[in-house]
Amino acid sequence: MNQMTFTELDEAVHNGRPQKGNAIILPPMDVFESIEWVRLSGIKPRVVMLDPWYNKGFGEIRDDYNDFVVSILEALIGISDHVFLWGFPEIVAQYFNHIPTEYKLVAWLTWYYKNNPSVIRGWRSSQNTCLHLSQGDTKLYPEHFLNDAQKEKLSKGKLRYMPGPTSVIEASLLVGFVGRSEQTGHPSQKPLKVYEPLFCMTTKEEDLIYDPMCGSGTTGAFALEHNRIAILSDINEEYIAMVESRLAEKRVHSSSALLSALGRN
Ligand SMILES: C[S@@+](CC[C@H](N)C(=O)[O-])C[C@H]1O[C@@H](n2cnc3c(N)ncnc32)[C@H](O)[C@@H]1O
Repeated sequence: MNQMTFTELDEAVHNGRPQKGNAIILPPMDVFESIEWVRLSGIKPRVVMLDPWYNKGFGEIRDDYNDFVVSILEALIGISDHVFLWGFPEIVAQYFNHIPTEYKLVAWLTWYYKNNPSVIRGWRSSQNTCLHLSQGDTKLYPEHFLNDAQKEKLSKGKLRYMPGPTSVIEASLLVGFVGRSEQTGHPSQKPLKVYEPLFCMTTKEEDLIYDPMCGSGTTGAFALEHNRIAILSDINEEYIAMVESRLAEKRVHSSSALLSALGRN
């Protein structure tokens, strides 16, 4: 495959993008290769969404899962201001104390859903953990969650305190008839409603967001709806094809195709 150069990717993201919401889909590649591309290009995404399989239920089960997740976090050091890392709480607990010290825990977030089908005897899973990690003192945007009345008060200097969104996000799983129009067929697709508060809290319009295990491309769907720029990759060819169809955007194969997708030639 004829791949773009790091410099061209960097230039395209920094200088060439003419319109607002946008998604750049990379060819299928491993998470470490993807991070290396971004690192060498000098691109600094504001946020990385890191949503690996969770080592139980659907997806790959790895004996070295804890080391795997920690080594992804190590590879991401210096790349972005924020990282959102997903997992089941009982799995996250196993590596939590090994998270590199470069990261600060900003918040322990929970996605709560009631509609998980009961498949085993025992506790029926109804939550995912999302660790909000940051590197250094980073900006948050609780003002993005204000309603009109609160915005007016803020503009007049009359807002006595800045309310923030809750650390528990309640949204149904996309199964059966729930969220039919949003469903892509990816087995671990996150609802857009779950990603919205995370990206809104940490980015403003035209900021760069990056998802190196993008699955069905929910991060890209957010970018298109909310005027951010997403860089997306996944190891699986089938899922990259899914993302292309979901976002009506083709993957970049070469530097010229990338530049063309960005309206630079
Ligand atoms: C939980 S899913 C992500 C779902 C996604 N957040 C969404 O909303 O659709 C995890 C994804 O990680 C990808 N993946 C697994 N191992 C990978 C690796 N070593 N490098 C890159 N992607 C990988 C899988 O193909 C899968 O699509």
